[in-house]
Amino acid sequence: MVPVPKWYLGRMYSHSSLAFEITIKLIDLKITIVNIFISCNSYVYNTLLGIPRLQGDSSMYDVEKLRQQFPILSKCIYLDSASTSQTPRCSVDAMCEYFFEYAANHGRGAHHLARKTTEKYEETRSRLGDFLKVPADQIIFTKNTTDAVNTVANGTLWKRGDEIITTWLEHHSNLLPWMMLKRKGVRVTIIPHENGYLNPHTLQEAISHKTRLIALTHMPNILGTVQPVEEIGRIAHDAGVSVVVDGAQSVGHFPVDVTYIDYLAIPGHKGLLGPQGTGALYMKDPDSLNCSIFGGGMVVSVTHKVVKLLPPPAKFEPGTPNIPGIIGLGPAIDLVSSLGVKKIHAYEKNLGSRMFEGLEKIPGVSVYSPHGTGVVSFNVAGENPNVFSRKLDDHRKICVRSGMHCAEPLASSYHCEGTIRASVGCYTTTEEVDALIESVRHLTGKI
Ligand code: ALA
Repeated sequence: MVPVPKWYLGRMYSHSSLAFEITIKLIDLKITIVNIFISCNSYVYNTLLGIPRLQGDSSMYDVEKLRQQFPILSKCIYLDSASTSQTPRCSVDAMCEYFFEYAANHGRGAHHLARKTTEKYEETRSRLGDFLKVPADQIIFTKNTTDAVNTVANGTLWKRGDEIITTWLEHHSNLLPWMMLKRKGVRVTIIPHENGYLNPHTLQEAISHKTRLIALTHMPNILGTVQPVEEIGRIAHDAGVSVVVDGAQSVGHFPVDVTYIDYLAIPGHKGLLGPQGTGALYMKDPDSLNCSIFGGGMVVSVTHKVVKLLPPPAKFEPGTPNIPGIIGLGPAIDLVSSLGVKKIHAYEKNLGSRMFEGLEKIPGVSVYSPHGTGVVSFNVAGENPNVFSRKLDDHRKICVRSGMHCAEPLASSYHCEGTIRASVGCYTTTEEVDALIESVRHLTGKI
């Protein structure tokens, strides 16, 4: 493992020129004045519309300053962060630096470019380890969350009759890999939810002596409800059952404690703000899994008779990986850490509450997510969700997701055509949430 050099972490903030500091102070002052203006304006606007003010500490972090990292946010109203987050400048800069200054392969070659590439790639592993408070060599990089779940499904030695328990809240990425194991004689039990939440007692009752693994989402991508993963994990471990958690919507959005999680599937491109095509799998015991794909970069030695694999994580990462993406993920993780995951959670929860309260008051609108989640699914009576989401885009460039959300069993349980889903990120503003509410009112003729 290559340690993260201190100079690198401090790099973005270490400029010492006086002119630079004065410029930054002037920019800060300008932002403060603009913020005061926006707050006054939105107070008047919200009071007129009867929308409650945002609760909590408004000085949690400076959203306007954060938004400077995301130029695209000035061009549209992006409420589709559950699908993929926008990528900050610091991440894109790191990828450009890789391509223009030192691009080479990872872990292959003794020349200086290959050494630097390997060091930078491994820095991201260290940062993710620090972020999750786990040893870095228990983390492998994957293409995405789906790839991470498949690594567990295909890397476990199953016996006919083994049982997996999963839930009706799942995204296809945490459902199909398990359902496909039926071909190997594995039984898959799918348990119901209660208003978007898994009841730990339902799970406890479902566990049998054949149960080997429980696979559940930490936060369903349609509802945004935070599942009682810790309690479920404790029940599972007491019964000697392993736990796989789909962290697609949780990691980076709220603190994730891996005490009772054996495998955590992590997207790089959502709560962690990294580029698309990046993901990771945390494994409490990397030796519990076999490799399911084979190729270059994973061996100590090979003869025609014997293959000696490298230890984890290398043995799980054959082939040239998404090197620029993983290098770009590092500074994105630093950005999330600097904001503070608890603060992000509180901020997003407040935005979600505001969205829920604004939408549910509009006649003809059905909101399916419970109050207080940062992911709000809804429908408008008589409107197809895809057509309505296009109307939102045409009206005010509001980007929301619509349809089945790759979670068809759950989505179709609310409406045969799926739902409209608005989801916030750490960079979303109250004004953007209000723009959605106002646009739904306008498009439904209720304003
Ligand atoms: N899983 C992503 C979503 O929920 C793509 O939209």
